[in-house]
Amino acid sequence: MGFYSEDIVGEIRSRADIVEIISEYVSLKKQGENFVGLCPFHSEKTPSFNVSPEKQLFYCFGCGAGGNVFTFLMKKENLNFSETIRLLADRYQIKLPAGKYDREISRDFQQRRELLRLNKLAAQFYHNVLIKTREGRRGYEYLIKRGIKTDTIERFQLGYALPAWDGLIKYFGSQGVDIKDLQKVGLVIPRKDNRGYYDRFRDRIMFPIEDVTKNIIGFGGRIVGAGEPKYLNSPETPVFSKGENLYALSMIKKDPEIDTIVVEGYMDCITLQQSGFTQTVATLGTALTQKQARLLKKYTGGVVLAYDADSAGRTATLRGMEVLAKEGLNVKILNLPVGKDPDEFIRKKGRDAFEELLAEAMGLVDYKLNLAKKGLDINNPEGKLRFIRKAVQVLTEIESDVEREIYIQKTATELNIPEQVLKEEIKKIKFPNNGFKYKKSQTRDNNKEFSKISPITGAYKAERMIIKLLIEDEAIREKVIKELAPSMFLNERTGKIAGVLFKMMQGGEPVTADSIFNLLDEDASSELSAILMTDKEFEDDDLVDPLVKKIKENYLKHAIKQVREQIKKAEAVGEREETIDLLNTYQKLKSQMNELKANLTSEKGGV
Ligand code: CTP
Ligand code: MN
Repeated sequence: MGFYSEDIVGEIRSRADIVEIISEYVSLKKQGENFVGLCPFHSEKTPSFNVSPEKQLFYCFGCGAGGNVFTFLMKKENLNFSETIRLLADRYQIKLPAGKYDREISRDFQQRRELLRLNKLAAQFYHNVLIKTREGRRGYEYLIKRGIKTDTIERFQLGYALPAWDGLIKYFGSQGVDIKDLQKVGLVIPRKDNRGYYDRFRDRIMFPIEDVTKNIIGFGGRIVGAGEPKYLNSPETPVFSKGENLYALSMIKKDPEIDTIVVEGYMDCITLQQSGFTQTVATLGTALTQKQARLLKKYTGGVVLAYDADSAGRTATLRGMEVLAKEGLNVKILNLPVGKDPDEFIRKKGRDAFEELLAEAMGLVDYKLNLAKKGLDINNPEGKLRFIRKAVQVLTEIESDVEREIYIQKTATELNIPEQVLKEEIKKIKFPNNGFKYKKSQTRDNNKEFSKISPITGAYKAERMIIKLLIEDEAIREKVIKELAPSMFLNERTGKIAGVLFKMMQGGEPVTADSIFNLLDEDASSELSAILMTDKEFEDDDLVDPLVKKIKENYLKHAIKQVREQIKKAEAVGEREETIDLLNTYQKLKSQMNELKANLTSEKGGV
C-alpha cells in the first residue's frame, strides 16, 4: 500500500482490536453481532453508534461517522495516519523500521510522545526511590503509618520525591534528556535568576495520574513533612488537563451496571480501593467538570458522590450532581458524618460501616427534597406550605414521568395531602400557557442529525452496492474494471472510494477494506463504513450487470447534459474549434448511451 508496508500496517491492525480500542472512549454493549454505544462524534441520548467485531468497523446511524480502527483514532485523537500507526505501535510494542514512519509525524505528536515518556520515567524513578532506597524510607513509613499496604503502593505505583532540590534533575541528567521538556511537562521549574532549574516536587508522596489509555499524564504530590501546599499537582501541560481526567479512572471496570464512587482526594480513593471498593475514582482538586462527567458516563451508569460533609463539600456535591445528571448519569449522595472524609471514616469505622453508608446513599431527588426541608417544620402550616413550594420545583425538574409519579406519591404521603394538589402545581410551572407546548427544538435537532445522510436510491445506491461487491468478491473485479471507471461514480464520496479501489485493483494490489480505509479522507471513510456495515440487502452476484449499467447510464446522462450545456456556451462565444470537439464528444456519449439502452432492453427479459 504505497508508503506503508503492508506487513507493518497489517500486524498493527491485527493487534488493535476495534472493540478494545473504542471501549476506551465509549461504553459499549453487546447487541446481536455488534456492540452499540453513545456516539463519541455527536451528542445523543440513545445509542446509534455501532461497532462490528467481525468486520472491525464502526458506524454511527445518527451522524454517519464510520471507519476502521485507524480512522477512529485519527478522528478521535486528531492524528494523521502515520501518527496513528506510531501510537498503536507504541501501545502494542511493535518495532517500526526507522525512517519513513517518522516523516509525517507532526512536531506536536512527537512532543507529546516525549513528554509522556518523561512522565513514565519520572514515575518509575519516584517509585524506586520509595520502595528501594534508604532516603525513600521516609515516604514509605508515612504511607504505612496511614494504613497503606505494600501491594497498594505497587498497584497505584506510588512514589516519593526526595527533599532535595535536584533529585529528579540529577536522575535525568545522566539520561540525555532535554531539560526544556522536563519543564514543559511540569517536573522542573526554572530558577528566578534563570540560572538552572529545580524540582517541582520535593519531599512528597507522588501519585502518578493516568489517562484512560494508561499514559502517565501528570502527578499529584502530598507533602510528607510540614509545608505548603499540602497537595501539589502537575500544572496544565500539553499532556495534562485537570478538568479532563479523573484519578484512577483507568483502573475501574467499565460496566454500566456498577455504580462508581467519586471522591475528592487521592488518599480517599486509594483507601477505598484498598478496602475493596475498587470502583472508586477521584477528581483532581477541582470541581467536577462536564468533561469528567462525560468520561465517567463511558464507564458507568451511576455515580455515588462521597464528598466531605462540610459546607464546601455540600456545595461541591450539589454542583457535581447537576453536572453528572446532565450526562444522564444516575447520581446518589453518600451521607458522611461532618468533619470526616472517606479515608478517615474507613480507618475509624471500618469497611462494613462504609458499606452501610453506601446502601443508604440518597438519590438526587431525595437529596434535593431533603435539602428543601432543612430548617422547616412541616408540621406547622406555614412550614408545610414553604416546603411544598420548594418541593414542587424539585419535582417539576424530574424528567422521567415514572420517576416524577413515584416522588409525587411519596411527597404527598409524607405531607398527608392529595397527590392532585402537587400535580396541579407542577402543571402550572410546566405549562404556563394552558398546557400547550411542543418540544419543538428537540425534533428539529434530531432532524438535522439525520439529514446528513442522503437518501440511498437509484444510481447512488448502485454505486454503493458495486463498491461492496468489489471489496467482498474478488471474482467480479476483472469484469467491472473493464466496464467502469471511478469518474463514473457521481456521488463525491463513492467517487473517492472508487478512485482508491480501482487503483488498487489495477495495480494488482491485495484489496482489503483496511487498506482502502487508510487512503480515504474522513467523509469517504465514513461512507465506506456505512456501505460495509449497513447495506446488507445486496449480496447477490447476479446483480453486477444491472448495477454496472445503472451507474453507466447515470454517468452518461449527466455527461450528455453537461456537454450539451458546454456546446451552448461555446457557440454563444463563437469558439468554433471547441464546439466541434464538443460535438464529437457529444456524439460518442450519445452512441454509448444508445448501445447501453439496447443492451438493457435486450436483456430485460432475463433480469
Ligand atoms: N487538593 C489539591 N490542592 C490542594 C489541596 C487539595 O489539589 N492544595 C486536592 C487533592 O486532590 C486532594 C483533595 O483536593 O487529594 C482533597 O484535599 P484535602 O481534603 O485537603 O486533603 P485530603 O485528601 O484529606 O488529604 P490528606 O488526607 O492527605 O490530608
Ligand atoms: Mn484526608
